[in-house]
Amino acid sequence: IRLKIEVLPPEEIKNRVADLLSEQIKRKPTSVLGMTTGSSPIKYGIYQEWIRREQAGEISFHEAKFINPDELVGIPVDHPESYRTYMQEHLFGQLQTLRYEPQIPDGSSRDLMAECLRFDQVLADLGYVDWQLMGLGLNGHIAFIEPSNHIPAKTYVSQLFVENRPVHSPHFRSEDEVPKQSITIGLEAVMKARNIVLVATGDNKADMVAKAFAGPITTNVPASFLQLHANATIILDAAAASKI
Ligand code: GLP
Repeated sequence: IRLKIEVLPPEEIKNRVADLLSEQIKRKPTSVLGMTTGSSPIKYGIYQEWIRREQAGEISFHEAKFINPDELVGIPVDHPESYRTYMQEHLFGQLQTLRYEPQIPDGSSRDLMAECLRFDQVLADLGYVDWQLMGLGLNGHIAFIEPSNHIPAKTYVSQLFVENRPVHSPHFRSEDEVPKQSITIGLEAVMKARNIVLVATGDNKADMVAKAFAGPITTNVPASFLQLHANATIILDAAAASKI
């Protein structure tokens, strides 16, 4: 296995990720940086550490380009639950050296097929992603590539597993309003990302970490394809690593 697996105390994760990001930006200031949503970047202060380093003058994003791999379908871009809103609140809105408009799929588009094609063109025009931060879904998803017998290569509309829908959000008044789909990059954009840094923590992720990174490569565990990636770093805490 070419995967680089690192097991760290939870409080060191933010520094390790920020060091990897710093190295990337020093190596290539014009890097295309792929982001992620989910609870982990917040819980472990990953984005806060980048903001802190930027304010301290240790890191600058003025030539970097940010892109997010997925977005919920059927809600306005400025909805409180949208991934654009999440990124704006937790990272983009707090950076001072950001010059380029971050890219994210538009889940409110009335022509989702056209939006998928547009996003693939954005990726191609950027030359794909240089450095992609990722989380691991409890069911093995990466970005919003859900387990399935078939994983598209290109950006597509994925059907969300029931447990991955934001059902507990107070911002949806009824079940009907809760997004059931997302627009997500496909496997091609994942594999073309030149560096991947995946963070997974907690004992509830231990089974999936073992399946994804020490089990067979299968479309039913999308994260298992990272075993084929030439430059993926998997950052775990001891709890998440306990079954590998
Ligand atoms: C969401 C995102 C995924 C991310 C996952 C991780 O489902 N679409 O890209 O990997 O959250 O979630 P958490 O960090 O909350 O475990």
